[in-house]
Amino acid sequence: MTADLILVLDAGTTSTRAIAFNLAGAIVASAQRPLTQHYPHSGWVEHDAGEIWRLSRDCLIDVADQVGAPRIATIGITNQRETMVFWDRTTGEPVSHAIVWQDRRTADVCAALQAAGHEPTVQATTGLVLDPYFSATKIRWAIDNWPAVADALADGRLLVGTVESWLIWKLSAGTRHVTDATNASRTLLMRLDDCSWDDGLLALFGVPAAILPAITDCAGPLAATALLGGDTPITGSAGDQQAATIGHACLAPGQVKATYGTGCFLLAHAGPVAPVSTHRLLSTVAWRIGGVPAYALEGAIFTAGAAVQWLRDGLGIIASSSETEALAQSVADSGGVVFVPALAGMGAPHWQPGARGTLTGLSGGTTRAHIVRATLEAMGQQTADLVDALAADGVPAARLRVDGGMVANDWLCQNLADSLGVVVERPRIIETTALGAAMLAGVGAGMFADLAAAAAAMSAPDRSFAPAIDPAARQARRDGWAHAIRQTLAR
Ligand code: G3P
Repeated sequence: MTADLILVLDAGTTSTRAIAFNLAGAIVASAQRPLTQHYPHSGWVEHDAGEIWRLSRDCLIDVADQVGAPRIATIGITNQRETMVFWDRTTGEPVSHAIVWQDRRTADVCAALQAAGHEPTVQATTGLVLDPYFSATKIRWAIDNWPAVADALADGRLLVGTVESWLIWKLSAGTRHVTDATNASRTLLMRLDDCSWDDGLLALFGVPAAILPAITDCAGPLAATALLGGDTPITGSAGDQQAATIGHACLAPGQVKATYGTGCFLLAHAGPVAPVSTHRLLSTVAWRIGGVPAYALEGAIFTAGAAVQWLRDGLGIIASSSETEALAQSVADSGGVVFVPALAGMGAPHWQPGARGTLTGLSGGTTRAHIVRATLEAMGQQTADLVDALAADGVPAARLRVDGGMVANDWLCQNLADSLGVVVERPRIIETTALGAAMLAGVGAGMFADLAAAAAAMSAPDRSFAPAIDPAARQARRDGWAHAIRQTLAR
């Protein structure tokens, strides 16, 4: 059997998947397992890192069994970012739950650091803002509040890392404690300029350097695993949004993608110098290969697909998300309803962790179809807020490449194009995140000379959606949205 496949592990927020790609970018086999969400208090979100490992192992073995393990040439990893895992280096087990990126428990800590005037330095060093979304305050909170974490630290047993770091440690049987530069760039602890942990920030957040992983490239010989029999190399690793940027072949400055999963994350490739946002976007590492980083500007919105989930599970007005396309189409407009789905606070460009969602413009004639339509329209308007901030930062988006579960909905894609006034492109492989991780692993294993060669072989667009409304209609939608945002922020 020839080793002709790349196996990707995609450890996301709500599920873990493994996907085997051939070198033409086609999916040969896949497996998926849902991940349990823990909500111990309002605004808190936790995961069981032991469960993340078991699901990941099972998915990898499942796919290897489907295709035959000897066909797996190499492994790529991609993951939900910022989520922080705490484990014991001696037992190899988690010492507490992981604190998830959506968790808001450190909002007060961030506000206090902001009030003390730390944000400009933090932003200049890391490219990020002071928000509970990022990892550093989660680490300190766990040390201060969870005795098992504090004890493990005192005994020199504690290791921490984002999800890919934890999985590489487990896959390598505890021999590699590493994190790739894209994931490290989301911690609030890494310098963007040289991709090293910053002593000043470690001191500011009270994080001991000894518990952190070593920062690596995104492609190359990162580790190896005996899980599939023999020694399978792990040669690619990146946070899921960076991987999606690569999967979309956004390899030149100004190329922009947006992924619509639990949240929506828009990344614009920015080239070899870290960009500085003056409009509350994030500056982040897009990838690092051969020690050389490429950067991106990012807008992160915390609620996208989660809003449709809320229509289904919270309100109970739809039975499944696939109903939303027909319901949105069944009415001529939203009937004046505007939904700002700030169900987990607001991310870019507002950064208001305490914000709550607002549903405005209701009348006796409002039906569930209007609310569903307003929910999908909110995706277009939230994205337009990011695209406007991007343009104000000097990066006008000429087109937008989209992926994620929501973009299977044609109506949503057309509404995005109408809301933004740019062409929206959907790729052939909608699993763009996993594809990007496969491209990195392919480069890291020497199967492709560089990302451009990997993109030429593996990535292809499928369908485009051109704007079909006039600028005045587009502006009217923007005005209605801006009014609802003002109401949301004023509460
Ligand atoms: O920054 C959070 C992001 O990486 C989560 O992505 O796809 O798991 O919702 P996803």
